Amino acid sequence: MYVSPKEILQDAIDRHYAVAAFNFYNLDTLLAIIEAAEEERSPVIAQIYADHFTFYNGGGSIAKAALRLIEETPVPVYLHLDHASNYETILYAIELGFHSVMYDGSELPLDENISISKTVVEAAHKHGIFTEVELGRIGRLSGGQEDAVYDDCTGVEEACQLISNCKADSLAPAIGTAHGLYRTVPKLNFRRLEELQKALEVPLVLHGGSGIPDELIRKSIDLGIAKINVGTELKYQWSSTMKAGLEQGLKEPIKLENNAKQAVKEIAKRKISLFGSAGKA
Ligand code: 13P
Repeated sequence: MYVSPKEILQDAIDRHYAVAAFNFYNLDTLLAIIEAAEEERSPVIAQIYADHFTFYNGGGSIAKAALRLIEETPVPVYLHLDHASNYETILYAIELGFHSVMYDGSELPLDENISISKTVVEAAHKHGIFTEVELGRIGRLSGGQEDAVYDDCTGVEEACQLISNCKADSLAPAIGTAHGLYRTVPKLNFRRLEELQKALEVPLVLHGGSGIPDELIRKSIDLGIAKINVGTELKYQWSSTMKAGLEQGLKEPIKLENNAKQAVKEIAKRKISLFGSAGKA
């Protein structure tokens, strides 16, 4: 069932857990996320990268499938558009009924990030849609970049400036994590996280949740992270299970996809339990 992002994230803050925001890439991964949440009686966030969203028939087919599944499940879920930097894509997602959108202006100078984030937030709020913005450099491990960027974390003053001007509902700060799989154990800037948490009143989002050791995840939640994004671990599990099935000679999509869905679901359930949201629905 749909429950508003504000309510889902506030409950996480009040009861000291984090909500898993799983990236889905197709119907198998979407079903795996919802089923994992149902089996663990947990709230969950189903999110899709903006470029994957537009891949599916311009976005309409996958969004409608997700919204229908959310309507039917007994656990609290909302649909979020992840890492969108194109205004038109965000408007289309709002029109389709997404419950939350992220504008990622982190590569822009602060004043431009503030100005476009403000335009996006105003457009979203007109429709009652929740928003997330990003500030700082969250690494990308697939683009030849060596590893997460500990030294380039989000400044407290800049974060306050962004949020107070654009009025976004949540913030993804850079505290040393990166998207993709880490080659070495990431070093997270917990001091900065604590400072950000004290200075800001909006929920904080941890990006790059795949491969972060359990104790660092627990500490991030203790220090106020309310939403944790996980994508890479799910998609690698899906592809490796599909590959294994094909190598075994399986030919039926329904068998291949069912195996992949079950394998992804197990990872999602493990994350839900680690984040402390199991049994909270
Ligand atoms: P990972 O792919 O590293 O888990 O990161 C996901 C993410 O942060 C999506 O915004």
